Amino acid sequence: ITVDWSSGEYDKGSHEHFMRKEILEQPEAVRRCLRGRLDERFHTVRLGGLEMDAREAREFRRVKILGCGSAYYAGQVGAQFIEELARIPADAEPASEFRYRNPVIEKDTLYVAVSQSGETYDTLVAVQELKRKGGRVIGLVNVVGSSIARECDGGIYLHAGPEVAVASTKALTNMDVAFALLGIHLGRVRDVSPADGRRLLAAMQRLPEQIESIVADEEHLADVATRLAQAPSLFFVGRTRGYPVAREGAQKFKEISYRHAEAYQTSELKHGPLALVGPNLPTVAIVPDDELLERNVGALHEITARSGPLCVVTHDGVDLGVPAKDVITVPKSEPELDPLLLTIPLQILAYHAARTLGHDVDKPRNLAKSVTVE
Ligand code: AGP
Repeated sequence: ITVDWSSGEYDKGSHEHFMRKEILEQPEAVRRCLRGRLDERFHTVRLGGLEMDAREAREFRRVKILGCGSAYYAGQVGAQFIEELARIPADAEPASEFRYRNPVIEKDTLYVAVSQSGETYDTLVAVQELKRKGGRVIGLVNVVGSSIARECDGGIYLHAGPEVAVASTKALTNMDVAFALLGIHLGRVRDVSPADGRRLLAAMQRLPEQIESIVADEEHLADVATRLAQAPSLFFVGRTRGYPVAREGAQKFKEISYRHAEAYQTSELKHGPLALVGPNLPTVAIVPDDELLERNVGALHEITARSGPLCVVTHDGVDLGVPAKDVITVPKSEPELDPLLLTIPLQILAYHAARTLGHDVDKPRNLAKSVTVE
């Protein structure tokens, strides 16, 4: 096995923390993940590692994604990509629960294990259980030659480079990229047209530069984070494509700032959580410029009407018409790819909140980079 990571990549260089270095490395990490995989002739993608011909790829009637923590949230993003692009029912489930419910393994389901380290015990055992029952399982894994990569029937390497900080950033982004590649692949052997394939490929190629522009807004994001860090508890909310983004945002925030952060679907606020909204509970709302914009804005009014401090993460040029305390914008992509770019500012918010609070950003308490025990 050859691993082409140089020892310099394990060095923080001039950065205060690995996490910041890894956030800034994302444009290059995404370029690596895309390299050699975009097929401009047929407006699709090349994924040789899947070891699956077009006929096999057409036969799947369902996709089940398994991962833990942030990898599970990336799986939720991935399930939406696949369902939207390939029109195959897809869902994600925490790998840590999977084997305990004696799952039904279907022969026309494609199982996808997703993991940065490739060594997460719960995900590895889920893969082994699937294999034992004859399921077809592919891996979206960062570490080449890791246990999960070796157990799977094929897969897509993330090529994010080594990730040292416990809080996953660039590997998570590349999970989203790899899921988009898989969604385009499964879609183009079904009903995604060449024109839509071209549109999506062009959007994928723009991602590195768009991420560069988001991380360039770090000073503003640090300022917002300093204020959010003062609150003992926060909500992160989003709908459909924005919901896994909100979950990942809350996960990153609690993981390193040790603040209570909880994610909800924006549409669920009125069914209970709104009772907690008030001047001491900020809400970070993910509001893409999509078909739900107006409905999202309606829910934001419910928050500001109760004096809840609001930080909105939206697209450039959106006029919200809501008295939000903070507005963070990202460049517009194709709607299917919205989750990917909307997640990046949340990483930077979590990083600066933890830094402001003086926490050990790269090694948060009670957590390990790779959980190799049950
Ligand atoms: C991410 O920030 C977390 N450290 C954690 O949730 C992680 O994603 C999870 O433990 C899965 O790790 P893996 O990707 O290496 O399998």
